Amino acid sequence: MKKKITKKQAQSRITQLIKEINYHNYLYYSLDNPVISDSEYDILFKELKDIEFQFLELILPDSPTQRIGAPPLKAFDTIIHREPMLSLDNCMTDKDLRSFVMRVKKALNVNSPDECSFIVEPKMDGLAVELNYQNGKFINGSTRGDGVTGEDITMNIRTIYAIPLLIPIENIKSIPELPLPMDIDVRGEVYMPLRAFHRINRQRAKDGLDPFANPRNAAAGSLRQLDPQITARRGLNFVCYGIANPKSLGLETQWDVMQLLNRWGLPVNPLSVICKSVDEIIEYYKKISSMRNELDYEIDGIVVKINSLEDQSILGATSRAPRWALAYKFPPARVFTKINKIVIQVGRTGILTPIAELEPVEVGGVVVKRATLHNYDEVMRKDIREGDTVMVQRAGDVIPAIVEPVLEKRPVGTMAFEMPDSCPVCGSGVAREAGEAAYRCSNPACPAQLRESLKHFVSRKAMNIDGMGEAIIDQLIEKNIIKDPSDLYRLDPEKLLNLERMGEKSVENLMNSIEKSRHVNAHSFLFALGIRHLGEKGARLLIEKFYDFNKIRTASFDTLINIDGIGPEIAGSVVNFFSAPENIRMVDSLLSSGINLLYPYNAAKDKRPLSGKKVVLTGTLTNMARQDAKGIILNLGGEIMNSVSKNTDIVIYGQNPGSKLKKARDLGIRLMDEDEFFDMAGAENL
Ligand code: IVH
Repeated sequence: MKKKITKKQAQSRITQLIKEINYHNYLYYSLDNPVISDSEYDILFKELKDIEFQFLELILPDSPTQRIGAPPLKAFDTIIHREPMLSLDNCMTDKDLRSFVMRVKKALNVNSPDECSFIVEPKMDGLAVELNYQNGKFINGSTRGDGVTGEDITMNIRTIYAIPLLIPIENIKSIPELPLPMDIDVRGEVYMPLRAFHRINRQRAKDGLDPFANPRNAAAGSLRQLDPQITARRGLNFVCYGIANPKSLGLETQWDVMQLLNRWGLPVNPLSVICKSVDEIIEYYKKISSMRNELDYEIDGIVVKINSLEDQSILGATSRAPRWALAYKFPPARVFTKINKIVIQVGRTGILTPIAELEPVEVGGVVVKRATLHNYDEVMRKDIREGDTVMVQRAGDVIPAIVEPVLEKRPVGTMAFEMPDSCPVCGSGVAREAGEAAYRCSNPACPAQLRESLKHFVSRKAMNIDGMGEAIIDQLIEKNIIKDPSDLYRLDPEKLLNLERMGEKSVENLMNSIEKSRHVNAHSFLFALGIRHLGEKGARLLIEKFYDFNKIRTASFDTLINIDGIGPEIAGSVVNFFSAPENIRMVDSLLSSGINLLYPYNAAKDKRPLSGKKVVLTGTLTNMARQDAKGIILNLGGEIMNSVSKNTDIVIYGQNPGSKLKKARDLGIRLMDEDEFFDMAGAENL
């Protein structure tokens, strides 16, 4: 039943809801720090929509409900930038950076070391846009285009929640007199967060569409859609890095301009800093470079800008780029190399995966020698062949991928790739099931499958058997000592001594870690079984739901699929796994070989020591790997956050904790050192 309200009440409630929703959008999209849950947000949003539906005449163009819904365009209009949108000069080495700083200082007549300050921030790998605001209202948005004229993408920009439609949002911060920007052109980068990028590519693969090669292309494709409905679904984000005419605000530095933009609710990069010397800039470059893989967006370097606006004007610009800024780029994350050979790897479920063996090449700071080609269809779609020169890239994460072959460089006489008819490991037949992308070895006892299952079984997030490397696994299989994982728990140490490179000490260590692994968290055991599609997170969910491994064995598809976070793929796969006689035998055999399943957090989720607490981990822990510590925090009911804010409940710190600890101290957040954390976790959880 909808409550009846008067038009007057509706009007005031609408104003209030818009403010509140905009505020939560800002916390969520710009600060990455929501204070309400998604469902609480949805309730506010729905209330607004309902009231607007009752009083259509009260719908404001700036209402968050109006971001989406504009009809598709036939073509984009053009917008002339009042100030040209320039490019940036680049450098690739410390030496070049030093000469830039020297040049600038000389031009500005600066002699003392710390008279010149720089604002330094990550260089976002997205698309430059310009946003015009008049009296606090978003008017239009445009692409960079050729720098002078861009395309009018206003309707698409409106779908990006990080971009406020109205500024200032008075109740964000209680700053008494925030001047309203009369007419201002904000500049920044629209980008696609990696999470959205992977989600969209997964969906595209399901729909039989070509995946986007990288987040930048995906962002470009999404921003230049004529239909804003499509843009709206792409999860784009935005961060600003300046305004067209910064001096108009009457401020002295770029930093102050950015602070003001931030107070107006425009997202600025929280990683921006001020540096006073080249050495500080280099330090920052290294720090950002080492954080690169942890960020949820792609960056391709850092940007260094002179902080003083007066100095910026003195230095001026060439027709291409300002003289007061420089991009210091990371080694490229996309490079070209040659495929020497395409080999076939057989995985633990018998799937044959083509792998490209590459001429070793450095991509984004690591040497890459191999890259997966995923499956036969993918190789055919891209038409990748042995001998091809290919573009290799690391897209934000660590796994290198082959983007495409360079057809102009293809040597004569190459042959299209073909899948083998028989398994390269055991020689059995290879088959492809209807509707599946994968080719599989038809022999369930294929040594390659056993090898991969064992590798997975002993891995850290599974049974965590230290010292059980690939070389040992291979020998155990070859010598027929192990036929399934449960044989690990019946190993004869004498036989281990006969293996290559196994001395008494290493046999003893290995036997000890096998022994230790008998006491294992139930979810790690479930994960170790290597059930298709069931990752560590899914295994955790199932154990938390059932608190009993045996109940999962007999759970029905319908029961499983009703669990939040478990989809039909996982549910089907779990049911299939536990109905295959050979798996039932293997699991029984494991359980009867003395494996003891632990349910250390066998308390309702809200009764665990860290239940409902937002926890930040910082510094180096001396007694355990970071990944393990994160696992324990989750077990104890906590939620892991990456950065410290006023919503953080606890900061756990190790050695050299850095700025996060300082910030936590300033905010009066509860601090916990490593020992205290261990005590709280209790021995049984470690
Ligand atoms: S400042 C006059 N800051 O890099 C240009 N640009 O290669 C001042 N970019 O077109 C730009 N992150 O799209 C600046 N933090 C950042 C940036 C950034 C990415 C882009 C921008 C520009 C391109 C030049």
